[in-house]
Amino acid sequence: MTKKEKNNNADNETMNKIVSLCKRRGFIFPSSEIYGGFAAVYDYGPYGVELENAVKREWWRTMVRLREDIVGLDSGIFMHPRIWEASGHVAGFSDPLAECRNCHARLRVDHLLEDIGAQADEKMDEKEINEIFNEHKAEVKCPHCGKSDFTGVKKFNLLVKSNLGNFTDDWAKDPAYLRGETCQGIYVNYKNVLDSARVKIPFGIAQIGKAFRNEITARQFIFRTREFEQMEMQYFTSPDKEMEEYEKLRQARWQYYLDLGIREENLKWHKHENLVFYAKEAYDIEYNFPFGFKELEGVHARGDYDLSQHAKFSGKPLDYADPRTGEKYVPHVIESSVGVGRTVLAVLSDAYTEEKVGDEERVVMKFPRKLAPIKVAVFPLLKNKPELVAKAKAIYRDISVDYMCEFDDNGNIGKRYRRQDEIGTPYCVTVDFDTLENPPAGGDVTVRDRDTMKQERIKIEELMDYFKGKNLS
Ligand code: GAP
Repeated sequence: MTKKEKNNNADNETMNKIVSLCKRRGFIFPSSEIYGGFAAVYDYGPYGVELENAVKREWWRTMVRLREDIVGLDSGIFMHPRIWEASGHVAGFSDPLAECRNCHARLRVDHLLEDIGAQADEKMDEKEINEIFNEHKAEVKCPHCGKSDFTGVKKFNLLVKSNLGNFTDDWAKDPAYLRGETCQGIYVNYKNVLDSARVKIPFGIAQIGKAFRNEITARQFIFRTREFEQMEMQYFTSPDKEMEEYEKLRQARWQYYLDLGIREENLKWHKHENLVFYAKEAYDIEYNFPFGFKELEGVHARGDYDLSQHAKFSGKPLDYADPRTGEKYVPHVIESSVGVGRTVLAVLSDAYTEEKVGDEERVVMKFPRKLAPIKVAVFPLLKNKPELVAKAKAIYRDISVDYMCEFDDNGNIGKRYRRQDEIGTPYCVTVDFDTLENPPAGGDVTVRDRDTMKQERIKIEELMDYFKGKNLS
């Protein structure tokens, strides 16, 4: 086995452990499992949805709440079909597909080429990518059956179609699309926001919402799915300020991940060399997933393409009369675009830790505390002592007013700690017999820290102040 193969196996092993923990501990389930599954769709369980909500909350706080110049939006998933013609998605939103002649798996050719180190991407046209694929076909192996026998490459459109509002049998000729990205809802509402909110250029519109793509291959768990959520911000600038604002946005997005608690050594910039014709510059922020550095977020300078296209296709002018200079122009757009699921996977990967504690091994999800699904778990020392259970329940109810909290009286304390470590709960509170005593002898509880595993006695009346200082939300 080569060193690269050994590393790949170790990486896959980590990924498998994360996938298995997510299922076992109620973070993420494969969709429709009792029916045999539904490819490239995942469901978020009780802890997954808390983690997902924390990720969205942090994004919204940074992108909207703390920014005077950015406002929020929630546009519909369905939009006028012409929008997808204007955006270029109907004609050009496609990935290169080839079929393995042996096992009939459908494969993304740019990924197969990337895996053997050949330069290719989804923006290449059919002719271009067929040429590169032909050149390298012999080196490429089907990831499913290992054979090297493929059809030619065809570009496959990723838009998902529906019959919404169309009651004919041949609706597929005139479909309503499920949105392939959320930002089109932002562009077509740009004027509404400008006319109704107290904004002037430069300003941004941010949105979190579902997007759908008919991805050819579902890869790497929630990294690439057919239904996913995006967090996108489109910032409208004057043409002369576009690149200055772009640099500011790049810095802000890097800092955002550090503030989120992602380890900096797991992040890097990737500059796009093969730009679409209208783009001024495009960078991805990549994260070091267990399967290597891959795109987490795109930060792009898009020129005036988006608003110009919508003005052309809708027939409604979208230019801006600058009150400061009297100048008229179509605003330029810089965007930040990231998937919720992809961020969740980065956070899970960053947090997954195996540690030796004495003779035992513990698995602990070291989530940044503000992202942890459960902030505090409360245990009665013994399950069969009603006075301990009643006191623990009362403390649990008090903490729940401010923080996501869990009550657990199953198994022994060691087992409960292990379970809370695996779901990344920063603090566990144990109610014991001393707690039931009045001060000065009692009235306190044991608080155990997830990362240091240190335990300290804290007075019940001081518990909330204690947690307030711990950056839990
Ligand atoms: N508006 C620009 C846009 O949509 P993109 O590179 O296609 O650009 C942006 O997508 C981000 O959305 C990606 O960086 C990724 O985080 C997320 N994303 C895209 N496709 C995805 C998929 N199939 N599954 C999960 N996340 C996806």
